Amino acid sequence: DISNTIDNQNDGCRTLPLSMHVGFDSLPDQLLKKSIKQGFCFNILCIGETGIGKSALMSSLFNTNFEDSPSTHFLPSVRLRAQSYEIQESNVLLKLTFVKTVGFGDQVNKADSYLPIVDYIDAQFEAYLEEELKVMRSLFSYHDTRIHVCLYFISPTGRSLKNIDLLTMRSLDSKVNIIPVIGKADSISKTELQEFKKKIMTELVTNGIQIYQFPTDDETVSEMNTITNGHLPFAVVGSMEKVKIGNKMVRARQYPWGIVKVENESHCDTVKLRRMLCTNMEDLREKTCAYYELYRRCRLEKLGCKDVGPENEPVSLQEVFEAKRLEFFLEMERKEEEIKQRFVQRVNEKAAMLEEAEQQASMPVYLEFLCQGRFRVNVRKMYSLKGLSSTGEQAAQGSVESQYLEVFKR
Ligand code: GTP
Repeated sequence: DISNTIDNQNDGCRTLPLSMHVGFDSLPDQLLKKSIKQGFCFNILCIGETGIGKSALMSSLFNTNFEDSPSTHFLPSVRLRAQSYEIQESNVLLKLTFVKTVGFGDQVNKADSYLPIVDYIDAQFEAYLEEELKVMRSLFSYHDTRIHVCLYFISPTGRSLKNIDLLTMRSLDSKVNIIPVIGKADSISKTELQEFKKKIMTELVTNGIQIYQFPTDDETVSEMNTITNGHLPFAVVGSMEKVKIGNKMVRARQYPWGIVKVENESHCDTVKLRRMLCTNMEDLREKTCAYYELYRRCRLEKLGCKDVGPENEPVSLQEVFEAKRLEFFLEMERKEEEIKQRFVQRVNEKAAMLEEAEQQASMPVYLEFLCQGRFRVNVRKMYSLKGLSSTGEQAAQGSVESQYLEVFKR
C-alpha cells in the first residue's frame, strides 16, 4: 500500500494520509469521464424506396420525431438528405446523424441508383482522410460524418429481393455495415413473414452479399447476438404517433381492425433492432474504422504511397513525395516541349500557305484586295508569323504594291 510506505519512510516527519486510492487502475475511469464529456457520435444511413417508413422507424427507434416533408416520386435521380440531432440519455450525449435516400427506386432506369449512395459514403471517408492529412489537424473535435450503419429497407412484397436491392447492397457491402430490415412489416402475415425472411437470407448468401453480423466473441453478449443473427432481416414497424392504451401513451399504428404496437416484440422487431443497435454501437463504430482503413489504403496507394519498396525495404513518405514531384515535373516539361513543337509546325504551315497565296495573286484580285484593305492585313500577318520586323513589312508592302501598279498602268 503506497500510503503505508510513505508513513514508514518518513519516520519522525509530518505525514499526510492520502485522501483517495492512487493507481493506474483509474485509467478506465479517466477515459470514461473524458468520453462522457466529449459525447458520442453515431451516423445512420437509411436506404429505401420513397415512403417505405424510414423517418417513422428512426423516430420510433430514438423516441424523437424525425419528421420530414414527404418526398415526391418524380425526382430525376437519387439524392441523400442528412439531418443531425443531439439526444441526451442520463448524462450521455449522442450526436446522431440520420441520412436518408430521397427518390430511391423512382426512376425508370434504376441501374445507377446506387451510385450517389456510394459517392456519399466515399465523400465522408475522403473528408476524414483530408482532416487526417492536414498539417493542423483536429481529429479530436472533428465532426465525424462516416456512416456507422446502413439500414437497408426491403419492400414487404413477401416474394424476393429486387435487382436494385441486390445491386445496391453488393456495391455497399465493402464500405459500410449493412443491416437489412423489412419495412412496413405489419402489411405481411406471420407465416409469410418467416418464409420471406428465409428467402431474403438465401438470396443474400447466393449473391455473395456480406451483411453485418452481430459479434459473438464477447461472452457478455454472445448468446443474445447469436440468437439475433438468426432473426435477420428485422421486420420493422414505425410510427410517428402515440396512442392511448389503458392509461399509457404508446407508439403504435391504429387500424380499423386493431392496434400494432411498435414496442411489442410479438408484433414486430423494432425493439430488437433498437436493442441490437445500442448494445453493439461501439462494434459498429470499430468496424466502420476498418472500412475506412480499407478506403484509406486504396486511396493512398493510388496516389503512389507505399510502406515497402520492390525488395521489401521500407519506403518513407518523404521519398515517395519527392519521387512523385519529380515525375510530375518531368511530365510537365515533356508536355510543354510537345506544345511548343506543335505551335512552330503550325506557324510554318501557315507561313507557307500565305507565301503560296501571295505568289498566285493575280492583278484583279490584287486590286480587290487593295480596295478592301485585306492585302495589307495578309502581308502583316505573314510578317508577324515569321517574326520579322514591321519596317521590313512596310518595305515589302510598298515594293509589291508599286510593282503591281506599274503592271496595271501598262
Ligand atoms: P420519404 O422520405 O418520403 O421517402 O418517406 P419515408 O420513407 O421517410 O416514410 P415515412 O416515415 O415518412 O412514412 C411514409 C408513410 O408510411 C406515412 O404515411 C407513415 O405513416 C407510413 N408508415 C411508416 N411506417 C410504417 C409502417 O411500419 N407500417 C405502415 N403500414 N405504414 C407506415
